[in-house]
Amino acid sequence: MKELFINNVAWAQKVKRDDPAFFQRLSLQHAPEYLWIGCSDSRVPANEIIGLMPGELFVHRNVANLVVHDDLNCLSVIQYAISDLKVKHVIVCGHYGCGGVTASVKRQKLGTLVDNWLLNVQDVQNLHRGSIVKNNTQEQNIDQLCELNVIEQVTNVSRTSIVSDAWSQGQGVTVHGWIYSMTDGLLSDLDISVSSSENLESKYISAIDGINARYS
Ligand code: CO
Repeated sequence: MKELFINNVAWAQKVKRDDPAFFQRLSLQHAPEYLWIGCSDSRVPANEIIGLMPGELFVHRNVANLVVHDDLNCLSVIQYAISDLKVKHVIVCGHYGCGGVTASVKRQKLGTLVDNWLLNVQDVQNLHRGSIVKNNTQEQNIDQLCELNVIEQVTNVSRTSIVSDAWSQGQGVTVHGWIYSMTDGLLSDLDISVSSSENLESKYISAIDGINARYS
């Protein structure tokens, strides 16, 4: 563990060398423009992959980047980000090869608690079972479900009272769905950027159709 503290001192010194006022300035304000909702997977470090510094990205991560309507933890993060920090963008970011999604496709048991959490992914799988192509490889099925899961979570964010109230009050906030590939470090936009309750359904349908067409 000692090594981590050594790393920390080196990091703080480097940041200060590059920008002597950085920590002083940051301690006085918190005004990120983005909320990131991603998977806890250690291979998907939110700030690093989009090149943002401390202070620029508000982050919530959980297993399989799920937004569950009675998850007080996630809802509190969304509320604070939108009502207090007034972020302009909410990014739901999934990743290919997600362990939670893989467990759902393979019906693997990971543990008594997490298996219940991952029923939310199985719900997404069941909802789209007619579109997950039987002749594709299991890996393709997993990737397809990783993408579909992002779209469902974008919808879940958009349907919260927090986001729909913000929209009805004219607050400009857009909810995006992205996916990250660990094999090349690149992000893809899943073509769902929702900025009002009215355009949610059409954006949802076209994003789902786009994904299913690519895997069919
Ligand atoms: Co994951």
